[in-house]
Amino acid sequence: MSQGAQIAATCASCHHPTDGGQAIPPIATLDEQAIVKAMLAFRASESPSHVMHAVALSLSDDELAATARYLADRANAGRQP
Ligand code: HEC
Repeated sequence: MSQGAQIAATCASCHHPTDGGQAIPPIATLDEQAIVKAMLAFRASESPSHVMHAVALSLSDDELAATARYLADRANAGRQP
């Protein structure tokens, strides 16, 4: 299992990969840059989410990049051409 896959598994305890309509947005529908950008914003500030602030602080830049790449790759693989 890659590092990105391992970390993404911890995200899945809150985020269903593609299912919307809950209080917690799906993340596997975002592209790599969008995930990184959102995580850096969460890391920089507790607003809007204390939970995601804590999650983002717990990851290094490398871990964050690996996780975003894994999630985006998986989303692309699931998309029909
Ligand atoms: C304890 C629950 C929990 C965990 C674990 C968690 N998240 Fe979240 N996440 C949330 C909640 C709640 C929100 C909504 C925050 C808000 O905007 O109010 C959110 C929002 C997000 C968003 C923004 C989505 C959007 O469309 O705006 C991203 C990206 C995200 N999380 C990525 C991750 C990643 C990557 C991980 C794993 C490293 C992770 N989350 C782990 C609860 C969690």
